[in-house]
Amino acid sequence: MDKAVIDQFWRQRSATGAGRWTESPMLNFERELLAPMVGANCRILDLGSGSAELSRKLLLDTTHLLAVDKYPGFLEDIPDDPRVIKQCADLESFATASTFDLILLFGVVTHLEADEEESIYEKARNWLAPAGTMVVKNQISRGVELLMDGFSDALQCHYVARYPALDVQEGLLKSRFNTVRIVAYPDTFNRWPTTMHTAFVCSEPYY
Ligand SMILES: C[S@@+](CC[C@H](N)C(=O)[O-])C[C@H]1O[C@@H](n2cnc3c(N)ncnc32)[C@H](O)[C@@H]1O
Repeated sequence: MDKAVIDQFWRQRSATGAGRWTESPMLNFERELLAPMVGANCRILDLGSGSAELSRKLLLDTTHLLAVDKYPGFLEDIPDDPRVIKQCADLESFATASTFDLILLFGVVTHLEADEEESIYEKARNWLAPAGTMVVKNQISRGVELLMDGFSDALQCHYVARYPALDVQEGLLKSRFNTVRIVAYPDTFNRWPTTMHTAFVCSEPYY
């Protein structure tokens, strides 16, 4: 994948604060999926948080959120909140000595090479508390891995992305987590015939 195109894409979007481009019903669906995973004193790590539109909706009085994104423009859009810490970092080099009860990787995998995807899973399982949950969500291919590299009419720009095959992404996660539950999003959210929005709810990490 042409990383320069991806970098330019996110740089431009971060200048306008437009991290997400899905409709608000999908945000509500995701909030409802994740809210039951947030108990008292929950420590959330949001990897590729954007402006934390999603993870901010999960905050309870006692929640702690670490929002990590490569582009400062997104983080600047997160309102100051004593429950939230922002960290500007590329996921490739991000590291932490803390552990978390809930780790989110939403909308990021499609812009990672396969080896980068595997590397973040490898690191994230060590950041997850033993009883914690990691949720990975992205569009996947309906068949074998798909690569997009061209002008997107929908986004009105050059767009580069990788849509993993379901069994391959599931396999990478299953080799690191004892339990991987697949959540297929309602078909109304699937705009394209070749891809589908899918979440992988992972728990019981192998250390
Ligand atoms: C589609 S947005 C999703 C934002 C948020 N996770 C959500 O679901 O609302 C993807 C986010 O991942 C971030 N991102 C992409 N590649 C990254 C990287 N290598 N390191 C850190 N953040 C990255 C982008 O800046 C963007 O904010």
